Amino acid sequence: MPGDTGPFAGGPSELIGRQIASYRIESEVGRGGMAVVYRARDLRLDRTVALKLLAPELARNDTFRQRFTHESRVAAAIDHPHIVPVFEAGETEGVLYIAMRYVSGSDLRRLLDRRGPLPLRTALRIAAQVASALDAAHEHGLVHRDVKPGNILVARGTDSDHPEHVYLTDFGLTKKSLSLTGFTTVGQFVGTLDYVAPEQISGRPVDSRCDVYGLACVVYESLAGRPPFRRDDDMALLWAHQYDEPPPLSASRPGLAPYLDAVFAKALAKTPDDRYDSCLAFVAALRTPPSDAPDNDHPPTEVDLRVAKPPPRWAAPVFREQG
Ligand SMILES: Nc1ncnc2c1ncn2[C@@H]1O[C@H](COP(=O)(O)OP(=O)(O)OP(=O)(O)O)[C@@H](O)[C@H]1O
Ligand SMILES: [Mg+2]
Repeated sequence: MPGDTGPFAGGPSELIGRQIASYRIESEVGRGGMAVVYRARDLRLDRTVALKLLAPELARNDTFRQRFTHESRVAAAIDHPHIVPVFEAGETEGVLYIAMRYVSGSDLRRLLDRRGPLPLRTALRIAAQVASALDAAHEHGLVHRDVKPGNILVARGTDSDHPEHVYLTDFGLTKKSLSLTGFTTVGQFVGTLDYVAPEQISGRPVDSRCDVYGLACVVYESLAGRPPFRRDDDMALLWAHQYDEPPPLSASRPGLAPYLDAVFAKALAKTPDDRYDSCLAFVAALRTPPSDAPDNDHPPTEVDLRVAKPPPRWAAPVFREQG
């Protein structure tokens, strides 16, 4: 970046082996639209961490900085088994950084790209863990605003009853909110719009129910292999979130219980008041056929397992054929 003297000066790949604050960068884990995540060594405690370095442009935006500081603090204060623990958030040489637990595994984005739609039971297990994390955050007055597969990290679970352990990450780091706070070059940072709630688009007040919407988009995609709305350009996609009815899940994932269509319709309602009150209420509805449902209207695990592809070899330790 011309004129930069900070750690990004030689490009993020030049950072391997360098020390940033009290962390020595070991390798690049991945990158998104506004940050690069590294595996790093915490030299004080001699342990591995994930170090996220935010693009220098963000550090120069006052609104973002304030938000970053505030929300990193709130996120760090939440002690929850499904929220990535934040160890430290700070700034050095004009670069904002976050040190957090290094989660060994994959993220849901990569998992869906490699594996395609998940078995119903797997999708529900992941959804329940993310939902518990979101509801806990909401109890602390924190709305995530950027629930998406890339922010859901999937690690190996503890035992065969819990084959995967899921962590939610990136509280308060949403780029979409920047567009609403006057961040002029937002175009260069806006990532996917697949999971954004109608009220986030229209600038209406946003509360925990925008995360119900985001989670519903993620679970829908986990089952259907595609998010509820797909359009050729961003404007059309934003329009669809605002005004179009989501196609029923059963159209792209035959074999699932019909009541699930109604559950997604409610979770993806355009008006927050019409959605579930909490993320766990949404997941409970996914799990529970209505009492007046016909006998065969239940989560069909057998059928579902046949539809699903077997896990690739790399995922075997995480996803054995649990369904
Ligand atoms: N604590 C962590 N441990 C291990 N890997 C992580 C951790 N946090 C993030 N990652 C990985 O780093 C990659 C980049 O994350 P980042 O948040 O920058 O991008 P993103 O969420 O995919 O996209 P976006 O920029 O749109 O938010 C992701 O693929 C994620 O899997
Ligand atoms: Mg992320």
